[in-house]
Amino acid sequence: MPDPRPARRDRYLQRLGGAASILFGGPHATRNSDSEYRYRPQSDVVYLTGWEDPEVAVVFRPGSEHPYVLFVQAKDKEQEVWTGRREGVEGARGRYGADLAFPYSELGSRLPVLLQGYERLHHAYGEHPDHDRIVFKATANARTALRNGLCLPWKMEHSRVLLGELRLQKDEHELELLRRAAAITAEAHIAAMQAGKPGAYEYEVEATIEGLFRRRGGTGAGYTTIVGGGVNACVLHYVNNRDVLAPGTLCLVDAGAEVEWYTADVTRTWPVSGRFSGPQRDVYQLVLDAQIAAIACARAGRPWREMHDAAVRVLTTGMVELNLLDGDVDELIVEERYRKYYMHGTGHWLGLDVHDVGAYHIGLSSRPLAAGQVVTVEPGLYIAPDDHDAPEALRGIGVRIEDDVLVTEGDPDVLSRACPKTIADVETACARA
Ligand code: GLY
Ligand code: MN
Repeated sequence: MPDPRPARRDRYLQRLGGAASILFGGPHATRNSDSEYRYRPQSDVVYLTGWEDPEVAVVFRPGSEHPYVLFVQAKDKEQEVWTGRREGVEGARGRYGADLAFPYSELGSRLPVLLQGYERLHHAYGEHPDHDRIVFKATANARTALRNGLCLPWKMEHSRVLLGELRLQKDEHELELLRRAAAITAEAHIAAMQAGKPGAYEYEVEATIEGLFRRRGGTGAGYTTIVGGGVNACVLHYVNNRDVLAPGTLCLVDAGAEVEWYTADVTRTWPVSGRFSGPQRDVYQLVLDAQIAAIACARAGRPWREMHDAAVRVLTTGMVELNLLDGDVDELIVEERYRKYYMHGTGHWLGLDVHDVGAYHIGLSSRPLAAGQVVTVEPGLYIAPDDHDAPEALRGIGVRIEDDVLVTEGDPDVLSRACPKTIADVETACARA
């Protein structure tokens, strides 16, 4: 597939209108002491440039002779012995197609010149103090500049607004990567169902999943893998993954492979002993019904909010049937009483970031979905182990089911459909010898 980035840059430059823009890739983050995390490129930078090294800034100057300018780590023989080959300024101009490229160390001194003539600047302010300092210093003389008949940006817009709009609408290249991520993820969830027998540890399931992500060529997990056995499934973002899986319990796995920085986000909940008990089956089927009802709303033109409303209605009706709640379903929904057992949203945009960018509302209205957007659909039901109002048989059960769905002009396209989901299919995948 041809490099999609030149077309993305053209679109971005066009949409910027008369505004300049600056994007930053982060520095290496420290893990502890002087050890660093492996650098994960900043998503906006990857989207528009493909640049994967740390310490990078991209300046866009629409309408100028040199609209695409990269500031990158200069080549440095001594440093490269430790951290590997750098593309350097030469690579930025050559392979990455920048109109101009400079060492990152020159950013502060060159920025006021590059921004000359632009009244408006897009910048992700408030995210990183060092980046803010560079930008504010470069634009601080806007008033003096005006007095001298020159112009520096004096209006700032958050860069994530426009980039959110662009990144929300996936192109073919992105969809191909998301499909690959979803396929690897489905395979890993099936492997997890097979590995998570009674007596296995949550971390062994995590290792099975993440090992497969890497063996299939993914960059790793797109977010911290959640493996919650038993009551740990009731902790929404449980990531300690250090308990043993007990017979007769459920295990909730929320894990997604990242492929070329695009991530899947899939959750499955399955019986450790291979068969759901009666109460587990009731809760599971209810969540599944809610998920299917929500996915049916993932259609172009339907408001984003409809998926959540559909899930809430099914879940609340089921909560009454399971004696978790008592009362009129409409009233329970208006009073949000379901939140005791379903306390999160039904999904989010998905892409380079697991909680991807893009507005969920236009003004005060829920955004209508459009073909080319990718959403997660992830209802759940969580009954705390110490909830003495709940029927005893249901206490400590936590279930979430999550798929990745491409909105199309027609039916929803479930990218993660290879991952078993019906009770029969999950029990088959979990069959114990
Ligand atoms: N999979 C984690 C989340 O959606 O928050
Ligand atoms: Mn999710």
